[in-house]
Amino acid sequence: MDTILILDFGSQTTQLIGRRIRDLGVYTEIIPGDSSFEKTALNPDIKGIILSGSPESVYDQGLAPDKTVYNCGLPLLGICYGLQRMTVDLGGAVEPLPEREYGRIGVKITKEESGGGWAAKFLKGFKPAFTAWMSHGDTLTKLAPGFTEYGTSGTGYPAVVIHDAKPWFGLQFHPEVTHCEGGNDILAAFVVGVCGCAAGWTMEHYVEETRTSLNARIGENPVLLLISGGVDSTVAGALLLKTLRGEQVHLMYMDTGLMRKDETKIVKASLEKLGARHLHIVHCEDEFLTALKGLSEPEAKRKVIGDLFITIQEREVSRLGLPDNYFLAQGTLYTDLIESGKGVGKKAHVIKSHHNVGSPLVDAKRKAGTLIEPLDKLYKDEVRRLGRFLGVDEEIIGRHPFPGPGLAVRIIGEVTQEKCAILREADAIFMEELKQRTSAGGHRLYDEIWQAFAILLPVRSVGVAGDVRKYGWVLALRAIISADGMTADVYPFETRDLLEISTRITNTVTEIGRVVYDISSKPPATIEWE
Ligand code: XMP
Repeated sequence: MDTILILDFGSQTTQLIGRRIRDLGVYTEIIPGDSSFEKTALNPDIKGIILSGSPESVYDQGLAPDKTVYNCGLPLLGICYGLQRMTVDLGGAVEPLPEREYGRIGVKITKEESGGGWAAKFLKGFKPAFTAWMSHGDTLTKLAPGFTEYGTSGTGYPAVVIHDAKPWFGLQFHPEVTHCEGGNDILAAFVVGVCGCAAGWTMEHYVEETRTSLNARIGENPVLLLISGGVDSTVAGALLLKTLRGEQVHLMYMDTGLMRKDETKIVKASLEKLGARHLHIVHCEDEFLTALKGLSEPEAKRKVIGDLFITIQEREVSRLGLPDNYFLAQGTLYTDLIESGKGVGKKAHVIKSHHNVGSPLVDAKRKAGTLIEPLDKLYKDEVRRLGRFLGVDEEIIGRHPFPGPGLAVRIIGEVTQEKCAILREADAIFMEELKQRTSAGGHRLYDEIWQAFAILLPVRSVGVAGDVRKYGWVLALRAIISADGMTADVYPFETRDLLEISTRITNTVTEIGRVVYDISSKPPATIEWE
């Protein structure tokens, strides 16, 4: 399949380059910018290479690519730092700007090209004048030999450069950022126009490729997948069920008692609908609640839950009596590997240690070469597309994220069965309301919100029920909009929606006496309360 390789020099928008190109239907791979090409011997599917941006300067800590990149004969596109890197490596000069250029800046195409050459093909993607997005502290002060300036920024610096004889291109701005007018057309001009990539990246193709590769690797051996109830593991389960024999696929789900209302029922029904034959549901609510007794420190609760998860998982897996050579599958995504600092993007910061990446069972299976991660090439919205293609219920595909430790981090202080039950009921009402209500734009509130949930506070406040003073629990509601959970804004409810939701909760869940709405963005607050 035609592929564009992206050398990651650490820019925050490197992922976006990959996303935009995949949206064109062309597969992308991201590797650390300084990867050795000898080791990763260029795959013949690779039709072009993009050198990404970087927070560093070429004269400072910035990484350099393997020099083979300039001899491999493939089209190259340098974006921001990528262009500066190419310029310096190929004999030009880059110097600091008197003032950093940041934000929307106009770009004018200053030279045209006709005919069927590389430059003409690339320039087809550009409007004569457009607003671009820039973020750079250095600029080209001397183009590398053979390069010509074709576009200039409003501030007078080179913005588009092209080599006279080779398919080498450079942009000082970021076409991958949505604020760049016509950015997708520019990327398409490189990927399709210059590199000639065919749009082979479809979910149908992904399923067929997975079928071939999984069957070659696994043969007749059994596969075990641990299901959490979230989108990723459910889609991973659907993919295994579609590409392997149903008999081979074992799915295990742990009901910790810290799940949302009816979660176990929903997960069971959806997996059975997808053809699951060996679905092992482990009921371990008592074990979790006993272990959590007396604990109110968030980190202590998380640790107990994480450890117990591993203990029960190992016990139950051995109870299944699978042969030693069984394969373990998990729903790790491309972005999980990046976030945990594994695999791709050496310079990408470790943002959170994802719970998928570090259990002893997973580590042992990884070492033994029997770990399979059939979603590890996909971004989150590609997983959703794959899920739809495989027939996973829309209710699961569109579900808000849910933390591994579940309701335990949404019950502030000690977790008890009674509090779990109260929170579960209140949260279910909140979700039901969000699914029934629509915004002014006609969308379900649930779909406009990235994540919403209720939190039970360890506070009782006074109220009246009939003529009697009554102390009820305080419930907080949280609803945020976000692109990826890294930052978040508060969802601006219509006041009437909040009032009606609050009334329904206090009328139905009588233990709750008061409802408050959390109006904190992230940062400074986090999304969860613990
Ligand atoms: P925070 O609270 O860090 O949450 O702003 C960001 C996203 O991560 C989810 N989250 C977790 N997910 N285990 C998980 O699997 C956890 O311990 C955990 N803590 C937070 C949170 O729900 C949000 O989507």
